Order: sequence, then structure tokens, then C-alpha cells
Amino acid sequence: MKNTVATFQKMKDNNEPISMLTAYDYSTAKLEDEAGINAILVGDSLGMVMLGYDDTLKVTMEDMIHHTKAVSRGAKNALVVADLPYMSYHVSVEQAVQNAGRLITEGGAQAVKLEGGVEFSDEVRAMTRASIPVMGHLGLTPQSVNALGGFKVQGKTIEAAQRILDDARALEEAGAFAIVLECIPAAIAEKISSALRIPTIGIGSGAGCDGQVLVYQDMLGLYGNFTPKFVKQFACAGQVMKEGFSAYIEEVSARTFPAQEHTFSASDDVLDKLY
Ligand code: KIV
Repeated sequence: MKNTVATFQKMKDNNEPISMLTAYDYSTAKLEDEAGINAILVGDSLGMVMLGYDDTLKVTMEDMIHHTKAVSRGAKNALVVADLPYMSYHVSVEQAVQNAGRLITEGGAQAVKLEGGVEFSDEVRAMTRASIPVMGHLGLTPQSVNALGGFKVQGKTIEAAQRILDDARALEEAGAFAIVLECIPAAIAEKISSALRIPTIGIGSGAGCDGQVLVYQDMLGLYGNFTPKFVKQFACAGQVMKEGFSAYIEEVSARTFPAQEHTFSASDDVLDKLY
């Protein structure tokens, strides 16, 4: 059965952990869905792990719609949440609602995610009014990498932690159905999670969140450029893929692939008549 935002709330109410992973294409979404994931995030992290940029800032609405369409086709049961990319909701409430609407109507997502707190209350309220479920994202917000001065743990001082809690309350009040907490000290994330009615989804924020999300390339060992401290590698898929690629290259070089069983035959009749 398709998971919905109501499933998220029910899981929080029943104290059941919510599992979420990123995906950016049909086959990965299908595999995650078949494994029983609760939700799939089409994150703008695709800029880094799929497109090879240094950060997420160059990702466009067209990129997000293209990848969200593919994921939506693969996700039969998982709730699909699509990221609003940088500068797609910063200019006006109208721009924000229009772009969120495109991720739903064109991309096929069931919800959108945006980064930021109280400063985006009006946008969250307007999207909620348009029946677009919104997930917030607080703490380390990668779209603000230049303002934050790098990818760093957030909420370490009393003022910073209080600001995140205030932002979380503002997002909940504006209608957000869940909030991602990225790279916040575990005890602060736990406190925020128990202060909110809606679920929190942690990434690098400890076990006290109501759910967890990871970038799938990180947890499968597919993105060699950098592995954050909070990532656990659940499988070495990168190594398995490299071994497969090497074996293929060797067999092509040795002319042992393709073999007879990978080959189509022609009748002598046809062969004889060729000139
Ligand atoms: O873009 C993304 O993948 C994200 C997760 C890291 C939460 O926002």
C-alpha cells in the first residue's frame, strides 16, 4: 500500500522508526521500494552524487523534475519526496508554490522538501494551502553552504540550538508534515523530536530522531569522493561494481565475451546468399 504523509504521522504516534533513502532513477527506486523503504527522497544531492558538482547549488528545477519522474515510476509503495532546488522558492511565495506544484504534477512526487526555518513560514503555509505536503530541513542545510562557511555540524551553542528548535516549531505551525534534521548534536535532535508533534528524520543527528535518511551512494560505498563521519557503509556495492567492470574489460580483451550462448545464429541459407 502506498505510504502517505498520514503514514508518517501514524509511525511517529506509534513510536515506529521511519526509514528513508535517496534515489534519483527508476531502477534504484524500484530496488529500495521492493526492499520495503518507507520513503524515497529525490534529493538535490543528485548535483553531487549523480552530476559531479562540488555542491548542490547548480541543480535546476528541470533536473529535479527529470529525476523525480524516474523515481516516481519505480516507487510503488514508498512516499516520494522531491527537493525544491536552490533559488526555486527564495524569490516569492508565488514562485515557491508554482515550483512545488511542478514537482507534484510533472514529477509525480507526493511531497516536497525545502531548506530553512521561520523565514520560509509563508511559503510552507501557501504550499500547504495548495494541498502540497512540505517537509522542512534544518541544521546543516547544504544550499546555504556559502553562508554557513562549509559543511559543518550545526546547533552547538545555546543560541544556535534554540534557533533550530524555534525554526522547527515555526515549520510545524506553518503546516510541515515532517522535518529533516541534518548534522545536529544527538541530544539536541532528540529534544527537538520530542518537542514536535510531527516526525523528524535525522541524518547525522543521532538515534533520537523519529526516522533516518541517508544518501544511498554513501551507504552502499558508491561515492568515493568523501564519506561523512555519520555514514555507515551497509554494503560495498562500489567494490562489487568495479570488480564486474574489470572482469568485463578482461573478457572483451581476451575475446572470451561474448560466448556462444550470448550470440544469435543465422541460417546457412541466408549466409550463402550474401555477397
Ligand atoms: O539532498 C539530499 O539528499 C538531502 C538529504 C541529505 C537529507 O537533503
